[in-house]
Amino acid sequence: MVITAIGLAVSGLDKPEGLQDQVKSLGTRHITYGVQPRDVNTFGAALIWALEQSLGPAFTPEVKDAWIAAYGALSVAMRRATT
Ligand code: HEM
Repeated sequence: MVITAIGLAVSGLDKPEGLQDQVKSLGTRHITYGVQPRDVNTFGAALIWALEQSLGPAFTPEVKDAWIAAYGALSVAMRRATT
């Protein structure tokens, strides 16, 4: 679900207004799921670990940095939308 959402965010980069609304409601829904701010780093580390395991050598340092940046940007935007 996170990977799909990141894909949608990337494909919506040329329509930032619509993207902002979607990120805002995604952040609000995560509050109702019981997600706490401290869960964001735990989940991010697990996501990167899982990608590393499944992609192997294709998960180059550049790819890793790009995933960390994408996850970080989206989770910060989600959190900002709810505070
Ligand atoms: C960049 C960060 C994240 C993104 C883009 C993301 C994206 C999504 C999406 C697209 C869904 C599908 C449901 C919906 O659209 O509301 C979802 C559900 C969910 N997410 Fe996230 N998520 C993120 C971070 C997290 C974190 C940190 C947690 C907690 C560890 C979390 C827990 C959940 C839970 C519990 C659900 C509901 C699952 C279900 O009931 O089927 N998410 N997330």
